[in-house]
Amino acid sequence: MYSYPAHNNPNKKPKKNLETKNRTEDQQVTLKRTLLAVVCAATAAVSFAAAQDADTEKAIEKYRQMLRADPWSNPGFLDVDRGEALWKTARGPNKVSLEKCDLGKGPGKVEGAFAELPRFFADAGKVMDLESRLLWCQEKLQGFSHADLIKRPHPGGGAPVKDTGALATYVASKSSGMKYAAKFAHPKEKEVLALGETLFNRRSGPFDFACTTCHAESGKRIRLQGLAHLADPKAAAKVVGEWPAYRVSNAHVMTMQHRLVDCYWQMRLPEPELGSDVTVALISYLTNQAKGGDISVPGLKR
Ligand code: HEC
Repeated sequence: MYSYPAHNNPNKKPKKNLETKNRTEDQQVTLKRTLLAVVCAATAAVSFAAAQDADTEKAIEKYRQMLRADPWSNPGFLDVDRGEALWKTARGPNKVSLEKCDLGKGPGKVEGAFAELPRFFADAGKVMDLESRLLWCQEKLQGFSHADLIKRPHPGGGAPVKDTGALATYVASKSSGMKYAAKFAHPKEKEVLALGETLFNRRSGPFDFACTTCHAESGKRIRLQGLAHLADPKAAAKVVGEWPAYRVSNAHVMTMQHRLVDCYWQMRLPEPELGSDVTVALISYLTNQAKGGDISVPGLKR
């Protein structure tokens, strides 16, 4: 008969080793406690994050109320002023100001111009949003090179908005208190609007994201940030007219073109060129969604 080695004999009942058993139980208790602590910590982190989020929202809402009481306290007004000075200063190789720039309501007319953009411009033969029109005027009137204007066009965190952005903030502020009224009646405008709608809904890139992945539901959030339900005209009308906005987390004014660059980054898509057809199409779509919505520039964002 085969004899099992003593230490490995299945017929032999193992001697109960109380010490080992207790140690195992202790370890299990410790493990359970640790798990509980981890779960509690995670739950606490989630509710802490939610509480922190609610606090941030409350703090920004309070900030907004203070701004309504004293609208001049929005730091974005510094860029409105800077933009106005840039508009009126003779600049560029041609040493002229932008006071003859036609934003759609005649040369030099700034008041209410933003409220009717994007629109078709016969001189350029294309539909333009505010920022692409400002590029055009700086190029055609002042003689700046297009390549220079679109090179590193957006500021890093803490740095002030670039010149084109400051100009946009100034011009848009001159439509504050008005409502979005771009018509999208010209065939080219309709075409661009349709492209914008397609781009908004079309999935692309390595994550297969569309704008709608993040912006087609209310109450959706990414990390701590609430996501605007831009597919819904009522929700879009509340937020789109606040751009360019002073963004507290970046400590600078961010324009709509810059906002799109940030969302393209969220989608891991290549950075769209400032004023390119794709950006104008998306901005046309957003503006049309927000039709009738209030313009309040510079806005204030998280
Ligand atoms: C992966 C998610 C994601 C996708 C996809 C995405 N965005 Fe965003 N979007 C964000 C985040 C995050 C914010 C900023 C929210 C905040 O700061 O509170 C934002 C903000 C915005 C805002 C400003 C809304 C406001 O509250 O004023 C606009 C406009 C916008 N996105 C447009 C777009 C467009 C157009 C696309 C498609 C090209 C797009 N987004 C795709 C995540 C996304």
